Amino acid sequence: MERITLHDKSFVPYIPYEKIMSSIDAVADKINADFKDTDEIPVLLCVLNGSIMFTSEIMKRLEFDCELVSTRLSSYTGTSSSGNVKQALGLTADISGKTVIVIEDIVDTGNTIVELDHILKEKGAKDIRMCTMLLKPDVYDKDIRLDYVAMEIDNSFIVGFGLDYNQLGRNYKDIYILEK
Ligand code: IMP
Ligand code: MG
Repeated sequence: MERITLHDKSFVPYIPYEKIMSSIDAVADKINADFKDTDEIPVLLCVLNGSIMFTSEIMKRLEFDCELVSTRLSSYTGTSSSGNVKQALGLTADISGKTVIVIEDIVDTGNTIVELDHILKEKGAKDIRMCTMLLKPDVYDKDIRLDYVAMEIDNSFIVGFGLDYNQLGRNYKDIYILEK
């Protein structure tokens, strides 16, 4: 792992792949404990694009039947949230009457999950669980319960493992932080 440059900014190594894998192991264990012995067939909701790698890692570890649905929301431009969340792609399948486990890459202000919660309730979800790879606890100020959190980080801008800076950086298998 070494420093990378994306557009006009430099990023330095922050969370190595091995650490990402072990925290996903731990969070998948919790999801398995909650669903393995139930008759429920939950829907995993992959929030594109950032959550694509995390969703696949979670799915590989689940030991119960589940479905996969995707959607795409966007609020971030550059390195900060615009506060204005737009649904760029509707849900790819019907989720009414189903338990939905939202799989997010990162929860920052929480605006995105508030909007998702609203959309899922409107579409008739039976139950909604929130799972995120990363949480910025110093920034998150919403009331929605975060059921499964793999890692907590400081309030800084990161890329890699699905996360982007203006669409670049998603392909790195480690996570990098904006260089000060
Ligand atoms: P929120 O709506 O403020 O919680 O932001 C959530 C969305 O913003 C995430 O799904 C990401 O796509 C994006 N985002 C938030 N923080 C970062 C970051 O540090 N790097 C890259 N994208 C981020
Ligand atoms: Mg993004």
